[in-house]
Amino acid sequence: MKVEDSKFVKDFIKLTYDAWLKGWHERNGGNLSYRISEDEIKGVEEELDQNSEFISIGVSVPNLANEYFLVTGSGKYMRNVKLAPKANIGIVKIDGNGENYKKVWGLLNGANPTSEFPSHLMSHSVKKEITDGRNRVIYHAHATNLIALTFVLPLDSRVFTRELWEMATECPVIFPSGIGVVPWMVPGGTAIAKETSKLMREFDVVVWAHHGVFAAGETLDSAFGLMDTVEKSAEILVKVLSMGGKRQTITASDFRDLAGAFHVTLPEKFLYEK
Ligand code: 13P
Ligand code: ZN
Repeated sequence: MKVEDSKFVKDFIKLTYDAWLKGWHERNGGNLSYRISEDEIKGVEEELDQNSEFISIGVSVPNLANEYFLVTGSGKYMRNVKLAPKANIGIVKIDGNGENYKKVWGLLNGANPTSEFPSHLMSHSVKKEITDGRNRVIYHAHATNLIALTFVLPLDSRVFTRELWEMATECPVIFPSGIGVVPWMVPGGTAIAKETSKLMREFDVVVWAHHGVFAAGETLDSAFGLMDTVEKSAEILVKVLSMGGKRQTITASDFRDLAGAFHVTLPEKFLYEK
């Protein structure tokens, strides 16, 4: 099968365009990676070029050895992926040590994977380990309202989680483990990759202060849906704060009732009295 005809590539492209329409991907902002399954890669094997050179990742991810990833290119625009997939996204293979990658499809004209590839791969590494391989997607968006909140709320996961849970009843059910927060750091490097992946042990959503958000998911739909839900509740919070703040809200005891009814565990550290 041609790479562009396979379902995982079509689903990946759908996300990039949906996300562009959301307004989260100005210029080349944001990036996406998908860990391809064995069956999926077998289906497109004939179109892969295994002869390219290995390039250093900059971080070590031994449990991703020999895995294939579909990833957006550095400097590429989400809105253009649908128009020219081969120029804007590509498939890369990790080497046997988890320290280098090679391009096997796409990323034409010397394009490279996103500059946030270290953050993606270190997060994939953690998520693969703790979900028995079920997590396949890491998605970075410049979600407007979440970024805005990082200028106003304390950069503390307890506050971000609780405030965003309060903005929509279903939020604690969609992201019961809460939201991690990374203080401002230089993007694109190993340090921010380490910090993000550390928080990915506990959370599926990690906010980068004054920059954007990383979300993890088992499917492209679930990662996008998670980003959409968290950003929607951030939008409500921005509106509430702009209207002078809350006059009433969902209480800690309401959240305990919700957890019981929906069979989710909500960590008590987010249910503090205010
Ligand atoms: P890339 O174009 O390298 O993916 O960078 C975009 C971005 O959002 C950096 O954080
Ligand atoms: Zn970014």
